[in-house]
Amino acid sequence: MNISTHYNITEGELKDKIILVTGANRGFGRAMTLDLAKAGATVIMLGRDLGSLETAYDEVVDLGYQEPVLYPFDLEGATPEHYEQLQANLLENFSKLDGLIHNAGIIGTMMPIEQYDIKLWYSTMQINVNGPFMLTQFLIPVLSKSDDARILFLSSSVGREARAYWGAYGVSKFAIEGLSKTLSEELEKTNIRVNSLDPKRMRTKMRQIAYPAENIENNPLPEALSPAIVYLMSERAKTLNGEQLTLEV
Ligand SMILES: NC(=O)c1ccc[n+]([C@@H]2O[C@H](COP(=O)([O-])OP(=O)(O)OC[C@H]3O[C@@H](n4cnc5c(N)ncnc54)[C@H](OP(=O)(O)O)[C@@H]3O)[C@@H](O)[C@H]2O)c1
Repeated sequence: MNISTHYNITEGELKDKIILVTGANRGFGRAMTLDLAKAGATVIMLGRDLGSLETAYDEVVDLGYQEPVLYPFDLEGATPEHYEQLQANLLENFSKLDGLIHNAGIIGTMMPIEQYDIKLWYSTMQINVNGPFMLTQFLIPVLSKSDDARILFLSSSVGREARAYWGAYGVSKFAIEGLSKTLSEELEKTNIRVNSLDPKRMRTKMRQIAYPAENIENNPLPEALSPAIVYLMSERAKTLNGEQLTLEV
């Protein structure tokens, strides 16, 4: 299902919403953080690099948007105990969670499966799949406390149709699609809606690594796409569940 990126954010439409974004320090995560905060949501900005998290936080505050919360967290090194601690922190400080956006990810490397670097395979699967799985498992009890909660998994076209040499990244996104669909069915009768989203191409570091020779100017800035994330977290998208969504510029 296509989702238009031409969405006009209404001030305060996400007021009182608490939304956690992974990889909120840069790229698409930073852009969606700005728009979610503009719409009035309190964004819990999760990321592993405190310096760039703080820079993005300052941008939100300087623009006069809803003040976010920083949560330094490394999805690669985190153990179940770290996720448990995050759950406890959220329950103590917010008592509910309305949105969980699994945005962080790494591209791994472009290589045939036959030669794929095993260590990099593990890292990619840890950050792109195992992290989102554990984060979801530990945060379902917090999402359950909202009367209208959303989980959004950032996916990719290579997670819906296999492409040679995309290695662990492509496989991780297939896993994310499976996780999203399975969860959407398991949570169907609850207040939590679950969808995956292929943003298509964006002018970010990840895209540059994947396509070093292309003219980056031809790719839309993540800021051009992020209003659609506000739409997906809003009342208007309440009925979407178990969908494979794709952004349409
Ligand atoms: N860009 C595209 O054209 C495109 C196309 C299709 C799908 N997507 C998907 O869209 C999402 C966002 O992509 P993007 O283009 O914004 O990527 P990006 O610019 O490379 O940003 C990736 C984000 O993930 C974070 N991250 C990586 N490893 C982490 C870890 N171990 N712990 C916590 N955070 C970690 C990064 O933090 P650091 O700054 O610390 O590295 C960064 O904030 C991804 O899921 C990607 O697969 C992107």
